[in-house]
Amino acid sequence: MDVQKIRQDFPTLASDNAPAYLDNACVTLRPNSVIKSILDYYELSPGCGGRSVHKYGTMVSKAIVESRKKLSTMVNANEMNEIVFTKNATQSLNQISKGLSWEKGDIVLTTDREHNSNLVPWLQLEQEQGVDHRVIPSFEDNTFNLEEFEKMCNEAGDKLRMVSVGHVGNLDGVSTPVKEIAKIAHDFDALVCVDGAQSLPHKPVDVQDLGVDFFAFSIHKMCGPSGMGGFWAKKELLESLRSIQAGGQTVKSTRYDGFEWAEPPARFEGGLGHFAGMKATGDAVDYLSSFDLNEVYEHEVRLNSIMTNRLKDIDGVEIIGPEQPSLRGGILSLHLKKHDPHEIAMLLDESNDVMVRSGQHCVHSWFHAHNIEGSLRASAYLYNTEEDVKRFSETLEEILTILG
Ligand code: ALA
Repeated sequence: MDVQKIRQDFPTLASDNAPAYLDNACVTLRPNSVIKSILDYYELSPGCGGRSVHKYGTMVSKAIVESRKKLSTMVNANEMNEIVFTKNATQSLNQISKGLSWEKGDIVLTTDREHNSNLVPWLQLEQEQGVDHRVIPSFEDNTFNLEEFEKMCNEAGDKLRMVSVGHVGNLDGVSTPVKEIAKIAHDFDALVCVDGAQSLPHKPVDVQDLGVDFFAFSIHKMCGPSGMGGFWAKKELLESLRSIQAGGQTVKSTRYDGFEWAEPPARFEGGLGHFAGMKATGDAVDYLSSFDLNEVYEHEVRLNSIMTNRLKDIDGVEIIGPEQPSLRGGILSLHLKKHDPHEIAMLLDESNDVMVRSGQHCVHSWFHAHNIEGSLRASAYLYNTEEDVKRFSETLEEILTILG
């Protein structure tokens, strides 16, 4: 990978005084092709897709089809209509969880490291519909405990309805063995839902090979526009999933006394959409598809090794998750025992243009269970350089030395 060349594709990285942007688990930067595509929508074809038949409308409709096709190829869906556009992974997971029908006592398993987006919807079902939500405890280093999971499946027996797990944790970068999980869950006739927000941008994903039922993702974490996400589901599951939105686009026809749902994916894409975003999603997928994502992952691990080796032995600094960078992809999440991570993140930014995220990263449940206030998280991506991670590590070390 020619990182210096890649950086020329990103306006905020192309200059000599570019920041060390290491907040990619939150939102990635966008390449020129994606930015241009968004502008083109507003400047050249600012119409309404899926409805109007004039030139603007037709251009948008075609662009949406192209983006859907490209995403379906990226995840190896059976057909493009298995891809539903949403505004982010959160909306996707809400649609999936609330669109299924539940009985009191149905058991849902999630891990103890889930982003709120893959926790709160299930907790809500527990509160409102009597679903029994149970948490799979990880090993102490946050890796997935397959044996414990299997034990919990056996305990749940025929009440097990759903296993919903993050593919890669935004807390620590740790991957979950989704393929193995799916095999076990399916032996119990349970469904398997994956929050892929942190995996799809960083490594190859083949939903058929993983053998899962639902796969949710966010486009803003993969060089694409904000306000765009989606999910994949098997066609037969989409056909029986209830839409949580009803209105324009969701129906084939209405009368004063009834209506007929549209086929998926339109049924789930109610209201006038984020057309610029849908269009530019195709360009983001094109951009990512020009790389070997295995190489991207290796590059991130290489950068993570540099940060990890430099910071792991500092007094009062503890890595969240396993010590080996190869088990954490591009994410280094640090518990700073003596300092407020927000204060350190601001100092990193102000003193040396190093941008990282601080706090609980929407994984409050894990931090509460571990009695930790928050972490300082650096997350690398394909355009980051060794200089970026050295700048982060050195500046952090200096700040910690000064503060004592
Ligand atoms: N899920 C995003 C993050 O981890 C917001 O930063």
